[in-house]
Amino acid sequence: MSRAFIDATHFSSEVYWLFENARSRGDSISNRMGEAHRAMRGPIQPMFSPEAAQDWWHEKSVAETVDVLVSGIEGKGRCNIFLELCARMPVHVISAGFGFAPDEILPFRVALLDSVSHAASRQQQQAAEQTTKDMLTRLIEARRRSPRDDVVSRLVQAEVAEPDGSVRPFTNDEIIANCRLIVQAGGGTTWRQLGIVLFALLNHPDQFDLFKADRSLFPRVILEVARWYPTDLIFPRLVIKDTTLGGVDIPEGSLLHMCIGSANRDPTRWENPDVFDITRPVQRSVTFGAGAHSCLGQHVSRQEMEVALNAIMDRLPNLRWDPAEPPARLVGGLFQRGPSALHVLYD
Ligand code: HEM
Repeated sequence: MSRAFIDATHFSSEVYWLFENARSRGDSISNRMGEAHRAMRGPIQPMFSPEAAQDWWHEKSVAETVDVLVSGIEGKGRCNIFLELCARMPVHVISAGFGFAPDEILPFRVALLDSVSHAASRQQQQAAEQTTKDMLTRLIEARRRSPRDDVVSRLVQAEVAEPDGSVRPFTNDEIIANCRLIVQAGGGTTWRQLGIVLFALLNHPDQFDLFKADRSLFPRVILEVARWYPTDLIFPRLVIKDTTLGGVDIPEGSLLHMCIGSANRDPTRWENPDVFDITRPVQRSVTFGAGAHSCLGQHVSRQEMEVALNAIMDRLPNLRWDPAEPPARLVGGLFQRGPSALHVLYD
């Protein structure tokens, strides 16, 4: 499976141009290939490195966002933590990191989701898309006049090294397309994946106790939850040259849907793959993709989840299911899977 992510001579991510939702975002890193992708992702990558996640993102928005949200539920004794913390944290972290003012964060998020919502008419989608573009254009122009310490300021000052050796700044359209991509990709994924982490730990109290006793297990907890139950199951590629994958001949022109949920439970790679076990031998899964297009925001996502889990263990002790509420279930189809709710009690 990882070959389909990595081998760009046979599997193309220009496939995203085929999907209306992705196409409407414009020319972003997700639908570029090879040199053109490297030229665009190169200047963005350092803002999402492991070091940037632990230092800049932590200071800029992760620590404060988690603190404010946990302060809102601490001492109450019960809440739906999936809504009160998991859902709110990533939207605020990412949007604040990009430079949106607090009162712009939710209007931008709502317009961004409406612009790709299947429940909206094409006209409503286009109006919402225009709202996001207008908000971003105002932000970009403000930062061009007077840069601050945020992602949009860095993008307006960044230099794109083209394959022909020339160097130029990002255009407004490129910044808008990538901001829409990254802010959208950074919201729902971490929300649902953190919800799945809590679901797994609450349903496996022995493993939750192991983690509480040794916080250095965090990387294993995330690795195992992300393997066992990734929030998004399917990612596409266009086959651009006849090839064979997993013993199956695939002709050029095929649309390939890579099912990472199935790859992550491959019994030839993982013993008892259906079992959630944070003590299993460490092995990478494809939950965050692989190769040139591997998840740009994975370190920010991990940083958010680590800070949130530490705050939960420190400030919401004895976290457990609320027996007065219906049992939580993991719901969703091939995309955007997550818990129905996480009604919890704590001391
Ligand atoms: C648990 C959380 C997340 C999961 C499971 C996840 C998963 C993935 C996967 C599998 C890909 C590869 C897609 C492909 O190759 O077609 C991807 C790409 C991407 N992700 Fe994430 N993601 C998560 C969080 C985030 C966050 C927090 C951000 C932004 C802050 C983000 C931004 C992106 C971007 C921009 C790409 C496209 C990269 C490229 O094409 O070069 N993701 N993600």
